[in-house]
Amino acid sequence: MDLETRLLASVKALFAGESSGHDAAHSIRVYRTAMRIAAQEPCDREIVTLASLLHDADDVKLFRTENFANARRIMAECGVENARAERAIEAIRTASFKGTDSVVPETIEGKIVQDADRLDAIGAIGVARAFAYGGAKGRAMYDPAVPPEMDMDEARYRSHEGTTVNHFYEKLFLLRERMNTAAAREIAARREAFMRAFLEEFYAEWEGER
Ligand code: ADP
Ligand code: NI
Repeated sequence: MDLETRLLASVKALFAGESSGHDAAHSIRVYRTAMRIAAQEPCDREIVTLASLLHDADDVKLFRTENFANARRIMAECGVENARAERAIEAIRTASFKGTDSVVPETIEGKIVQDADRLDAIGAIGVARAFAYGGAKGRAMYDPAVPPEMDMDEARYRSHEGTTVNHFYEKLFLLRERMNTAAAREIAARREAFMRAFLEEFYAEWEGER
């Protein structure tokens, strides 16, 4: 079995039963998008493969692991040598969005994984994930009386309770210009335009205009 096949099997097993928007399908979409971006950037494609497929393997919201134990275990089981595994961990560590204090990864592999993960939060999939997440948290879809809260730091971002439509403004519409690569910016532009069109319909229907 090649590395990709083995990693895919491990990722599916790890996320079995997870339905909060961080299921195996999310990791696989991030991997596919990351490979699309990687085709246009000089980079180590195997590090991008490892880091994208394992980027949520130790997410604090899902697992109680320390020091990327799930990602390290899976890479060891797949026969990835230590120095390569460390490079993948570095890409994973730097790639996760944290409100306004988010870091820009130093490596191109980290940049690509961060872009691919952010792209999965926008577009049609992004709309679906946002409402699925809001529903799971018992949040209102929309409340015209609650304005979006901009410029939140990480602590505020993690603790605040808003509506799902506000999440579009508080996070999702900020992602396009934060993309690290030109390929991702181009994909993001199309996806963001779709979301803006979606909201236009949503508001019109809310007001009984359409
Ligand atoms: P990450 O993958 O960076 O850890 P999150 O856990 O913040 O992302 O988000 C996972 C998915 O849930 C994303 O699609 C995101 O847009 C959505 N989401 C996160 N927070 C909210 C929220 N407050 N309202 C609606 N959707 C949310
Ligand atoms: Ni993710």
